Amino acid sequence: MNLPDHFRWGVATSAYQIEGAVAEDGRTDSIWDTFCRVPSAVVNGETGEVACDHYHRMPSDVALMRDLGVGLYRFSVSWPRVQPGGRGPANRRGLDFYDRLVDELQAAGIEPWLTLYHWDLPQELEDAGGWPVRDTALRFADYASLVYDRLGDRIPTWTTLNEPWCSAMLGYAYGRHAPGRTSLADGYAAAHHLLLGHGLAAQRLRTAGAKSLGITLNLGGHEPATAAAADVDAARRAEGSTLRLYLDSLVRGAYPEDVVADLAAQGIRLPIQEGDLEVISTPLDLIGVNYYSSRVHSGEEILATGRPVTAMGWEIVPEGLTRLLVRLTRDYPGVPWWVTENGAAFDDKPDAEGFVDDQDRVAYFASHIDAIAEACRQGADVRGYFAWSLLDNFEWAEGYAKRFGIVRVDYETQQRIPKQSALYYRDVITR
Ligand code: FCB
Repeated sequence: MNLPDHFRWGVATSAYQIEGAVAEDGRTDSIWDTFCRVPSAVVNGETGEVACDHYHRMPSDVALMRDLGVGLYRFSVSWPRVQPGGRGPANRRGLDFYDRLVDELQAAGIEPWLTLYHWDLPQELEDAGGWPVRDTALRFADYASLVYDRLGDRIPTWTTLNEPWCSAMLGYAYGRHAPGRTSLADGYAAAHHLLLGHGLAAQRLRTAGAKSLGITLNLGGHEPATAAAADVDAARRAEGSTLRLYLDSLVRGAYPEDVVADLAAQGIRLPIQEGDLEVISTPLDLIGVNYYSSRVHSGEEILATGRPVTAMGWEIVPEGLTRLLVRLTRDYPGVPWWVTENGAAFDDKPDAEGFVDDQDRVAYFASHIDAIAEACRQGADVRGYFAWSLLDNFEWAEGYAKRFGIVRVDYETQQRIPKQSALYYRDVITR
């Protein structure tokens, strides 16, 4: 491995996917609690009600991370747990949980890395219009301040949003994620207000003293299948609406003109107000990249290239990660990059003891870590890597069938059993 000195290693999770305890200690519903009740929204009607029961098993989950030698833990805070209903004062009992988590992490020598929003909007804010409404961005900044007031001095790295593209487009335009709405215009309004909420929160946290501040985006490669105009244009549009819409506004303070023109041609206008782009482009200390796959565009279709796929049906394209990181460093200079998620679901086959010899997942991790090393060799500025995920967990609309953990969770008994990939990752970290 040819990674820079001081390269950091972590694991990632998110609140709704692991915590359970959805009605405890004052927590109210998020849009995911509501969405899970919609018939056939989630495979098998599964929900995050219990998930990995992490809310009650947190100390032993931290011990598990310590045993794996993990240096950083990226987790998210559940908004309706710490500010039920999304307005008003903090819920002390909700914040107590994250305070205890940070205690445990510090005692285990693991650095906490906090994400403020990993998709669990308080239902009351959705009832008031959700992310397509500007007020939600203001509410998010207030919530960010409440969390910072309690944990600010104890958390080195703060990231605002996880994957705003997914929140906006899967949630409001394509109906595949909570809240399950299907208006393209709402999707883009949500995208703008998520970015605005990010910027407002970043300003608040910066003023309050945050030293390391960022955001996490889901990014992948977009290549045209051929040099034909239709393929090239499809790749441009896909990359424009997923990557450049976010990075141009965050880093350069302007939305890309071609994307704005494409939207205008569909009768969609981003609800920008005076000064919004300055807020959105509040300087950051890092940007997180969640990378799973890359795509080849053949007109409006995604071309199956014949590469192996994961259980999600996503092609395994490690060289796409090299290209992406090199390109990000070149086109958006000045910000260090972190891979804040990378991993794979496979059809795990536990043996009689529950051990999973997941050579497919080991190979996935190894090839992507190599791809990062290659990107660094080519000049990319990448500082660390988080495996997704510590535990098998609630994979959103896919329910529990898709397992991304390096640790197996037996959902009947809540037993945790490290897979071969956990042992592999422990060795990588030690080396
Ligand atoms: C990402 C999400 C994460 C997980 C992985 C597989 O898009 O951030 O919660 O579901 O995909």
